[in-house]
Amino acid sequence: MKIAIIGAGSMGRGIAQVAAMHGHEVLLFDQNPDALTQARDFLLKILNRLAAKGKISDADAKEIFGRVYLVDTMSGFAQASLVIEAIIENLDIKKSVFKELETIVPRETILATNTSSLSVSAIAAACDFPERVIGIHFFNPPGLMKLVEITPAIQTSPNITQQTKKIIDSWGKITVLAKDTPGFIVNRVARPFYGEALRILDEGIADVATIDHAMKTVGGFRMGPFELMDYIGNDINYTVTETVFNAFYQDPRYKPSFTQKRLAEAGYLGRKSGKGYYNYGENAENPTPDKDSQLAKAIFQRILVMLINEAADALFWQVASKEDIELAMTKGVNYPKGLLHWADDIGIDTCVKMLDNLYDTYHEDRYRCSPLLRQMAREQTWFFREGVWV
Ligand SMILES: NC(=O)c1ccc[n+]([C@@H]2O[C@H](COP(=O)([O-])OP(=O)(O)OC[C@H]3O[C@@H](n4cnc5c(N)ncnc54)[C@H](O)[C@@H]3O)[C@@H](O)[C@H]2O)c1
Repeated sequence: MKIAIIGAGSMGRGIAQVAAMHGHEVLLFDQNPDALTQARDFLLKILNRLAAKGKISDADAKEIFGRVYLVDTMSGFAQASLVIEAIIENLDIKKSVFKELETIVPRETILATNTSSLSVSAIAAACDFPERVIGIHFFNPPGLMKLVEITPAIQTSPNITQQTKKIIDSWGKITVLAKDTPGFIVNRVARPFYGEALRILDEGIADVATIDHAMKTVGGFRMGPFELMDYIGNDINYTVTETVFNAFYQDPRYKPSFTQKRLAEAGYLGRKSGKGYYNYGENAENPTPDKDSQLAKAIFQRILVMLINEAADALFWQVASKEDIELAMTKGVNYPKGLLHWADDIGIDTCVKMLDNLYDTYHEDRYRCSPLLRQMAREQTWFFREGVWV
């Protein structure tokens, strides 16, 4: 099966690597010749590195590289069974590309978008045969990250969803099915990890080092929220938050922080610019955390309960199954435990009480408890355990 990819940037070239490593011939197209050159260099480097580490043989590396065709036109896409678009995140441009694609590929070719934040249904609407359009959302870098969110548009036929899932599963990925809603699973459920940490900072409850320390030592997260925002880039992370906030009709749960906006505006983007919440220059001095255990516990519990609320609400609105929500957060962003399992461990009634305390303190809609958690507390049920509480 031939796979075609549009856009040879960070995502497109990584997806090309994955497809080629799973035996497909890949056509990788970009309108910018420099992007194609960089993609070629990337593929050579990554495949040689894998060979040097003994993960693949030298002969494999050569063969895999030989299966990727870097092309400056989409004309060859007629032979592809699946096309994955990974170009700039702009609805109008994506729509025009999908329209053009339909003039090239046969009727049965699956057309997928790797969009993170746009409506798959809106992209599909540009097509004459929207039932073959679907979202395949890889995480960065696609070669390393196991999770892929499969997001059918409302027009997508169930058969296309099944076929797509089967292909991506065969690439060794863990696929989860998500409703075509803003942020799908991961980019929605993870928002409080950043947003509530920023809120704690903005209120002056603790500084960045203390909040990161709390989430790592008490929560077992691999990185603290500020380390992670610096890693992702404050410009990118801010834009995702703002996009999700606006897509949810400015629900205060997703309200962005001025602190992050100012950092992005100032060019303090994080690791890539050498400065963000932390300094990354040589001999840079960074603040040391306050290691007060009570403070650390309070910070962790506040962020965690907001994450649990978000996960429960995603389930309430049927964005995904509870199993897929757990998989998404543990495999997509490496959370140490699924949020709904965490809720079972803490106790649903405790979660509700913690959220109600926050609501009582602030009287802000941001802290409203998900109806699902409240119902479960009333009925004394669990997300994953059998029977009622004892
Ligand atoms: N970077 C991430 O972490 C990430 C994660 C998941 C999904 N995504 C999504 O993947 C898509 C691509 O993101 P990226 O980070 O790889 O972007 P990128 O800027 O690294 O690459 C985009 C590439 O698309 C090319 N391009 C733009 N318009 C084109 C067109 N009309 N025809 C052909 N090529 C075109 C550009 O030349 C560029 O090389 C976006 O929709 C983004 O939201 C990104």
